[in-house]
Amino acid sequence: MASKFQAPRGTFDVLPEAARARARLERAAAEIFARAGYETIATPAFEDTALFERGVGQSTDIVRKEMFTFEDKGGRSLTLRPEGTASICRAYLEHGMHKLAQPVKLSYLGPFFRHERPQAGRYRQFHQLGAECIGSDSPLADAEVIMLLSDLLSELGVPGVELRLGSLGSLEARRAYLEDLKAHLHAHEGELSKDVRERIDINPLRAFDADDEGTQGVMASAPTIVERLEGEDAEHFQEVRSLLDAAGISYAVDSTLVRGLDYYTRTIFSFVCDQLGAQSEVGGGGRYDGLIEQLGGAPTPAVGFAAGIERILLALDEAVPAAGRDAFLAVADPGQRRRAMALVVELRHAGISAEVDLAERSLKGQLKHADRIGARQVLILEADGSAQLRDMETGEQRTADTGKLLEEMTGGEP
Ligand code: HAM
Repeated sequence: MASKFQAPRGTFDVLPEAARARARLERAAAEIFARAGYETIATPAFEDTALFERGVGQSTDIVRKEMFTFEDKGGRSLTLRPEGTASICRAYLEHGMHKLAQPVKLSYLGPFFRHERPQAGRYRQFHQLGAECIGSDSPLADAEVIMLLSDLLSELGVPGVELRLGSLGSLEARRAYLEDLKAHLHAHEGELSKDVRERIDINPLRAFDADDEGTQGVMASAPTIVERLEGEDAEHFQEVRSLLDAAGISYAVDSTLVRGLDYYTRTIFSFVCDQLGAQSEVGGGGRYDGLIEQLGGAPTPAVGFAAGIERILLALDEAVPAAGRDAFLAVADPGQRRRAMALVVELRHAGISAEVDLAERSLKGQLKHADRIGARQVLILEADGSAQLRDMETGEQRTADTGKLLEEMTGGEP
């Protein structure tokens, strides 16, 4: 009977089959992070609303329209985290991590929440994995986090991936550039879409993302920051590029690349996948040298990325087969059930995956079930205390000594 309840709009259940592909992805990410020295951090699923308003930025779509905000019983405004970077910077400050050897390298994985219009690859509860490298302004740190994501996507075999790279310059350069961009947009107000026109002074960069022809025409002649980078900003960007070149990571410089968060300075990047539709970005990130100061700390340079787990899985579109079980313990006589239970526990303690019938089936039913779950061997306990071991692949069956069960099942190998 179908339930009248359904998962809320924009959310989904991860059923066991899908969970296998997800687990493989999570294992690959955990290994890549561990090998590069990125230790795990976990922060709460909700935070003070003001953290995101301040960190992610008042002008962003995330803060303006997409946050799940609620009041707790004490009248505090809380928000389900829409992203991880602001929370991790909060934790860095709260726990005095500036006293540790810098940079502090952290990785994370978990659910995030944005009240967006759901479509393929865009959900209201989704999962990100990410890494943040806090406390270094060196281009080496930028290159390292880009390489981590690049490695993960290639190790998993995500097809059709392209890396787009840009730079927004330092905070001051970015500020000066935004004034020029606003002037350009104001000069062409009549040709812009209503949405872009209304946001000229709030978030002019978003105009690069617009899909209407009028705005696109105006943006074709707009100044871009990449072409205006100078001094240390230009050197920094050049060095990031050289490091990626040396590592054999190909990329396209995209002077119109924008990201939906306000905190970025200097390097920004985005990995897109041509197997996905409109939501083609599998992951992205950049440098955020002003964020920790913005949250009340000392000026602290940092860089990081986050990738969307569902988008990577969509791009991979693969089924990971169930592992099957090493053994199944069947009983020819109901009187043997307790013994079966004790033996199955013994096998599990020895690291063997084993199941016993929990539905009190007939022997025939148990053998059918053993086959269904992919058991490689079945031990049948007879009423007189003897046992038969059946190899499910060859169909061979022989008498087994349950006193030496482990040896019997592993063929003598430990
Ligand atoms: P973001 O670009 O907003 O960046 O999100 C990162 C990734 O999360 C996206 O590339 C996308 O794959 C996935 N994603 C975002 N929204 C959704 C959604 N509604 N449904 C499914 N997947 C989604 C950040 O969040 C930054 N914190 C990244 C960062 C870390 N920058 C520096 N450090």
